[in-house]
Order: sequence, then C-alpha cells, then structure tokens
Amino acid sequence: MVQVNDNYLKLKAGYLFPEIARRVKAFSANNPDAQLIRLGIGDVTEPLPKACREAMKVAIDDMGTVEGFHGYGPEQGYSWLREKIAKHDYQARGCEIVADEIFVSDGSKCDSSNILDILGFGNRIAVTDPVYPVYVDSNVMAGNTGPAQKSGRYDGLIYLPISAENNFQASLPEEKVDIIYLCFPNNPTGAVCSKEELAKWIAYAKSNDALILFDAAYEAFIQDENLPHSIYEVEGARECAIEFRSFSKNAGFTGTRCAFTVIPKSLSGIGIGGKYVDLWSLWNRRQSTKFNGVSYIIQRGAEAVYSPEGSLQVKELVAFYMQNANIICSELSNAGFSVFGGKHAPYVWLRVPDGMDSWGFFDDLLTKVNVVGTPGSGFGFSGEGYFRLSAFNSRANVEEAMRRISSL
Ligand code: MLT
Repeated sequence: MVQVNDNYLKLKAGYLFPEIARRVKAFSANNPDAQLIRLGIGDVTEPLPKACREAMKVAIDDMGTVEGFHGYGPEQGYSWLREKIAKHDYQARGCEIVADEIFVSDGSKCDSSNILDILGFGNRIAVTDPVYPVYVDSNVMAGNTGPAQKSGRYDGLIYLPISAENNFQASLPEEKVDIIYLCFPNNPTGAVCSKEELAKWIAYAKSNDALILFDAAYEAFIQDENLPHSIYEVEGARECAIEFRSFSKNAGFTGTRCAFTVIPKSLSGIGIGGKYVDLWSLWNRRQSTKFNGVSYIIQRGAEAVYSPEGSLQVKELVAFYMQNANIICSELSNAGFSVFGGKHAPYVWLRVPDGMDSWGFFDDLLTKVNVVGTPGSGFGFSGEGYFRLSAFNSRANVEEAMRRISSL
C-alpha cells in the first residue's frame, strides 16, 4: 500500500478559507433567501484594468499567428516583464534589483510554500501569531514541525505574538532562528512596518545568518510615501531576504494568476560540508524542473500594469478598495468597535465584542446579518478575540454590510 505524507495528518481541520466556505455553504443551503455579503477571503471583485485586458486581447491574437505564437516560455518569466518589474518596482525606488533576480510565477501563495523546496530540514522557523496560515501549513506539510498543540500552535515553530498591545509589531526572537516570515502590509492585521523597524529585522537576520521571507503582496495599498514598499529599500536586505509580490490584489489577477518572487544573487545558505550555496541557483533549478512559466497572454496583461494607462487604472482600483476600507473603519468605529489596519491595507482588523470569541462573532454575523468575515483565531492562537473584514467588494455591498453590522 502506498505510504502517505504523514505530515498532512498533523494539520488542523481544513485550510481556513475552504472551512469558512463550507460553513457559509451549509448556512446558505438552509437559508436560500439570505442575501450574503462576503467580506471574508481577500478576493478582488472589480473588473481587470482595461489596459491589462487590451494587452491580453492583443496577446491572444499574437497566439493566432505563426510569428506571434508562443509555446513554452522561459520558466523564470519573459524578460520584457522581468525588466519592467525591476525598473518600476525596484530601481525606481532605489533598490538594487535586476531583472535576472525576478522569477515570474502564478502566485505568492504557491511561491511562499514552494520556497521550502530549496531550504533544508532542521531550520528554526519563526512566524508571527496571528499569521497568514499558508506559512504555517506549508511548513507542517514539509515536515518542519511537530504535532499541533491544544492551542492550535505547532511544536517546533517559534511564534512571535502580535496584538494591539504591541501595535502589531513582533519583537525580535529571543532565541536564534534561521527563517523568519514577515508580511507587510500585514495580512491579517493590516499593520505596516517603517524602514527603521525593518532595519532591526535585517540587522537580526544578518547577525544570526537568518533568512527573511518577506511577503509584500499588499504593498500597492500603502498610502504613506515614507513607508517601504519593498524590503530591499532597506540596506542589507539583499544579503538576507527573499521577497514575494503579486498582481492579484493591485491589478485584480486573483483569477488570472500572476506574481513574482525576488531572489537576490547575493543570498546564500549552507550546504553539505558547511559550504555556501547561492539560493538563486537553487530556485532557478527548482523552477526549471517543476514549473513551466505563466502563460504568455497573462504575462502580457501583467506587463500592461506598468504602462502609463495601466498604472493609472491600477491606482484607481487600489483607491477604490481603500475607500471601502475607510468606510469600514469609520462605520465600525462609530458603532463602537476597536478597529485596526485599513489605512495601508485592504484588511480591517477589529476586536470582537466583549464576551464573544472569534468564531462566535463569525456565526453571529453570518446568521443574524448575513455578512461573512474571517475569525481572527483562524490566523492563529493570538488572533482569538479579533476578526478580519476585507475591503474587496462593491461600494454598495460594503455600505450595506456596515449598516447591517451597526444594527446588531
Ligand atoms: C486572504 O484572504 O488572506 C487572501 O485571499 C489569501 C491569499 O491571497 O491567498
């Protein structure tokens, strides 16, 4: 009989969002007339920017000609897209990142999990708590943890609690760790990190030979020009950080799929016999074997994000969702909730009413006012007592959801 990966058996219940979808489906089946408003999973709702659609249409027509047809593309992404990313997202912000260090992919969720393929066993791994569950679950699946504890935390991982009490900024680990996951603007809390704060993480990583896995999927939502959009805006990051970026949330590519990961050539780890091995080469090897690239059509659509029209349309899209976030923050504050985030991120993080827990509040919202959110405890033990609302929905739905929640 085939052996299974026993690590999967350590995982708690389902992945958070399918679990929410399951509960919502059961509710809808029993209440077919309920007009649900979904502010749970951070999935975009507005149409793809016109510039991206036009570029994709041209690319489809290219594919209909012998000269313009594209079969397998480079596994790392087409150079015209990698060059635009390097120029606009990095060099324009003073970061020393070149096109060759950018690997185009089909998503940050996949990349932030797949990166474990090139990292060895026995690394001490730190995550914040609450945290985007993919970082934890992918480590469980890879066998980097022990079993789940009663609290839902896993043996072997180092948890760095974040809460209103520490302004959602984790303290540096007290022990030596080898890998640190950071996400800014933060999913789920919406917190941001200044250059000074990031510099502390970089100093820690460098003095402990640690690797930072930096998820910047929500950087487009930053409103304050003094906040870093990339970890490479801070000196020293090229020697200790990998960055994940995505077109999902800024340009609405959650369905079309396009993202990228930056692996500076100056990054290394330790291999057999204590030899330094560069991570770029390992990732390049991994992608060449296990990935066939993002489709030509989609990469042309992503390239259009950097055209003058595309960048304007993306800015408008981001502004639209941020206006939703503003409405959520102000309406909930008026209704007496303590709210956090929502200023530089499409997520609003709130405290659930006294005497309730996160799933209790989820059930209340679902059954009493038919609004779907995400319970904070789904993001980790320290997320208990909090709740996440996403700003990704139509204006009318966000306003209606706020009316309903305020009426509770
Ligand atoms: C979320 O809701 O946290 C996001 O949709 C997760 C993701 O982008 O995978």
